[in-house]
Amino acid sequence: MGRLHIGTISVISALSLSLTSAFAASPAPVEAEHGMVVTAQHLATDVGVEVLKGGGNAVDAAVAVGYALAVVYPSAGNLGGGGFMTIRLKDGTKTFLDFRERAPLAATKTMYLDAKGDIVPRASLDGYLAVGVPGSVMGFETAREKYGTKSREELIAPALRFAKEGFTLEQGDAASFAGNAKRLAKDETAAKIFLKPDGKPYASGEKLQQPDLAAVLEGISEKGPDAFYKAAPAEAIVKASQAKGGILAKEDFEQYAVRELNPIECNYRGYDIISSPPPSSGGVIICEILNVLEGYPLSYLGYNSAETVHIMVEAMRYAYVDRNAALGDPDFVENPVTKLLDKKYALEIAAKIDPYKAGTSANLKPLGGKESTETTHYSIIDDEGNAVAVTYTLNGSFGAAVVAPGTGVLLNNEMDDFTSKPGVPNLYGLVQGEANAIAPKKTPLSSMSPTIVTRDGKPFMVIGSPGGSRIITITLEAILNVVDFGMDISQAVNAPRLHHQWQPDKVFLEPYALSPDTEKTLAAMGYSFDGGNDTPQWGQAAGILVGGKSLAAIAKGGGARYNGAMDSRAAEGSASGY
Ligand code: DON
Repeated sequence: MGRLHIGTISVISALSLSLTSAFAASPAPVEAEHGMVVTAQHLATDVGVEVLKGGGNAVDAAVAVGYALAVVYPSAGNLGGGGFMTIRLKDGTKTFLDFRERAPLAATKTMYLDAKGDIVPRASLDGYLAVGVPGSVMGFETAREKYGTKSREELIAPALRFAKEGFTLEQGDAASFAGNAKRLAKDETAAKIFLKPDGKPYASGEKLQQPDLAAVLEGISEKGPDAFYKAAPAEAIVKASQAKGGILAKEDFEQYAVRELNPIECNYRGYDIISSPPPSSGGVIICEILNVLEGYPLSYLGYNSAETVHIMVEAMRYAYVDRNAALGDPDFVENPVTKLLDKKYALEIAAKIDPYKAGTSANLKPLGGKESTETTHYSIIDDEGNAVAVTYTLNGSFGAAVVAPGTGVLLNNEMDDFTSKPGVPNLYGLVQGEANAIAPKKTPLSSMSPTIVTRDGKPFMVIGSPGGSRIITITLEAILNVVDFGMDISQAVNAPRLHHQWQPDKVFLEPYALSPDTEKTLAAMGYSFDGGNDTPQWGQAAGILVGGKSLAAIAKGGGARYNGAMDSRAAEGSASGY
């Protein structure tokens, strides 16, 4: 399909020298003996390490990092959004906190449709109508109270300092403001905070201060979540929402509650996977794909060989049709989790995969986009072996790009994750069904997949990523890269990715994911492709491997206890430990 354009061949072939070997030459994993923190913003990473050094556990560090990212990584870190926390404690306890957004009480199934039943463009993405009831503050406080050891004041203090005193923007931080300047300019309050008085975005080297956000953080620090949900911030958000076409009400904030759920678990080649349950599709779909792949000798077939890609893509195709049709908020729909996780079901899928031919999505009937990097995932492990994986988000970059006056809190556009209309793709190109229809107090189906892998009852890997619908395959591929392809943790998060999500019926490729002859082989089997060498990369995986940097290092008995790697796709991210 001609991804190499003749005119650019010299540039691309020059690049290909470095890029084809990019993952082999990934930076060395960061090594540490007592604790490891991996996040998409280096200042937040340092906050987490300081908490661990000061005797806090991994949950304490995760809470402090969550608050810090809300200040230093405003495109995705947040108080006005929501997310998931997967926790595995040293005693083997596994749990999952769901602090994702809920639909407002006044939400209706057809709220994004016009009189003719057509989708009103961007109604679920921009402005107050797109906003789900935020969960992050309640999530962090629930985590801290139940599983942390430090005081709220201690864990919020670093975020408060960054908000009050400001922090210096690096190149990657400035780029994220520049890329979203037009949207931020549309909301007067957001523009005042995130753009300079002349309307231009902040440049690298300049300082960003957020006094309103500091005041909100101070309130939470002193009085707890009620200072957000039952006080001035909620009142200001409701007032602005009512004035600007939204439907948020006081009761939405008063009634918001965090759910503690059992994580999804499965076993892949002897490794125990602990990941996100519904209302995320992540854990179920990762496990469904892994169950299918377990039947194939992937390490023998080789990383991104035509045979490996064929099997991976077919497993993804079948799993995503289930994702899009069958899953939703567990308080509202019956999720067929047992069936989807059953290894017999994986065998049924495998039996349908033609070894020589691409499947056809149109022939797969359901049981019943685009890309950005604007969610964020971080991975943490402490000296005692407590592991925490957090993915949280505003959904799109800077969410709905609105801030209620006086709050400094960017609000999410998570309502777009619902099925606005069955059969019509959302921001991530997901074509979803009734199980994920909008209803009051319902949580939209997510792909966020904060995941912990254990082996022989001990933590082995902590992993996750942003990436919309691709989060699932990013997380999956990082696991396969370590377990099947022998990569070290840095190579595993940096390796080029591929993705299939049933509809559209295409294999999405990152630059240099496949060699031209592999692509030709797959094209001859019936595959068509999207993306490739001159297109953007996706995701920002944050990984930790325990016991060595790779399986080979672990087998040799050498190497550091904790090995961390932040995806190089995250310009200002870092892994750090002590
Ligand atoms: O929960 C979800 O699946 C989405 N709201 C995640 C959005 C995301 O990852 C955006 N960044 N790439």
